[in-house]
Amino acid sequence: MTTLDLDDIQGIVLRRYPMPVARNLLLSVGDPRAARAALARLVSGDESDTLQVSSAMATPDPRGGPSRLGYRLYVGITWSGLTALEVPELVPELSFRSFRAFVEGAPQRAQMLGDEGGSAPSNWIEGFQNDRGHVLVTLYAPNRDLLEQHSRALGQLLLADDAFVELWRGDGEALIEMDENGVSGYVRKAHFGYTDAITEPTVRGGPGPYPPETQEPCDPWLFVLMEEAPNYYIPDPHELGRNGSFAVFRVEEQDVVGFETFLQSKKDLIDPELLAAKLMGRWRNDVPLELSPDTDSPPGGFNSGDLDNFEYVNADGSGDPWGERTPIGSHIRRVNPRGQPIKGQSIPGGSNNDHRLIRRALPYGLTYLPDEPPDDIKRGLIGHFINTSIENQFEFVLREWINSSDAVGSVRIDRNAKGPMIGANEPDSSIFEIPQPDGAPTIRVTGFGSFTHTRATAYCFMPSLTALRYIAGLGVESPR
Ligand code: HEM
Repeated sequence: MTTLDLDDIQGIVLRRYPMPVARNLLLSVGDPRAARAALARLVSGDESDTLQVSSAMATPDPRGGPSRLGYRLYVGITWSGLTALEVPELVPELSFRSFRAFVEGAPQRAQMLGDEGGSAPSNWIEGFQNDRGHVLVTLYAPNRDLLEQHSRALGQLLLADDAFVELWRGDGEALIEMDENGVSGYVRKAHFGYTDAITEPTVRGGPGPYPPETQEPCDPWLFVLMEEAPNYYIPDPHELGRNGSFAVFRVEEQDVVGFETFLQSKKDLIDPELLAAKLMGRWRNDVPLELSPDTDSPPGGFNSGDLDNFEYVNADGSGDPWGERTPIGSHIRRVNPRGQPIKGQSIPGGSNNDHRLIRRALPYGLTYLPDEPPDDIKRGLIGHFINTSIENQFEFVLREWINSSDAVGSVRIDRNAKGPMIGANEPDSSIFEIPQPDGAPTIRVTGFGSFTHTRATAYCFMPSLTALRYIAGLGVESPR
């Protein structure tokens, strides 16, 4: 069994902490030497000096509440950031030879992923458009007051001595809803009304605990850069590459009003709640269609731990190969087809784990209230998709499974069909097919555009704590 260096790997890679607010700061390097010195203080181990980058070692509060430390801090660096920090200059053997997407940067790769028109880099937030962002610092906290308090301390450190310049900040915050007793509190729902982050890949040797699921556990090198990985060479030098990871940071704007209006506009064709479930693959109360295709309230209900314990197609071909329960085009079936034979499956009958992603995101923008008049509040999802091969994981999923119609060779779906939630759909060509059991005709839903638009993408290297210390120590004369 591979042992993971939990105290060296950034916590965001392997652990989900129950913290409802986060701030993301996009920085550009001002003075490289001062910037490296500021990074050094974030990994000095001296909490009395300033906030420290969080490793995956620290355990969440056993009562499920906020962490003992009251924050989690993570640092991602773009390729242009490594350059601005003078790493290539100071480290002649530096190589990211297996990681071309990271070196090219997100704007360069956007078109291939369907980020065109309203989602094109020219419409991204300033700072992300042309890869001017060098370092992305993400701070999670248990409440807004602590977020502000820690963020001030962080700002004082990062902006002093012209180390960094702040280009942009964006906050995520869990949605707040009122329960049946009139008490409002944070919920795990995202905009569009579904719960996010039910599914999380089980990582072999990872910290867990993981709820039961039918998929094989994932090899740890899919999320942590390790020498034994069969499909990449970890970046050189190894002190810099080992135990690192890559994160695709995204800001995805969601057209909540457009989505709800669309569901209602099809009510003569299909019940709006059933359509919502078919588009996602889960009912809006989390129940997966695969386990309960006709109702969101099956008799006996489900343990929350079992919400991810299902397959689409079993090794013997049985199950739901035609998508009569969960449409093949639905969001969760496209992004994680589980054991379904599909393009990119490396092991026949295998779990398709090679393309899996760990997601860490929070909503932004206030909860949409359908009874209120339509508003123009910006809403969406902001956070990280974590993987080791951006090409083979994040980009593959978007290019081959979301924005393409021929991934499942054995089942014909309309050639214009793309992922309905996040695909690059146009109203005059979009189509979503809902196969029906017992030979009844397929329901074809058409005429929808994109419900989400990309507002920012940054391809970040998430160095290990050792690597952050290594970068921070460059150019510093060691005492004789
Ligand atoms: C605003 C944009 C998005 C929204 C609102 C959204 C929403 C959701 C929701 C509600 C789930 C179900 C919860 C769960 O099973 O954990 C889900 C699952 C997932 N999404 Fe998204 N998503 C978005 C964008 C993306 C993108 C861009 C990708 C990747 C390219 C992605 C990949 C995934 C994956 C891998 C899962 C887990 C599915 C599984 O393992 O069964 N999502 N998403």
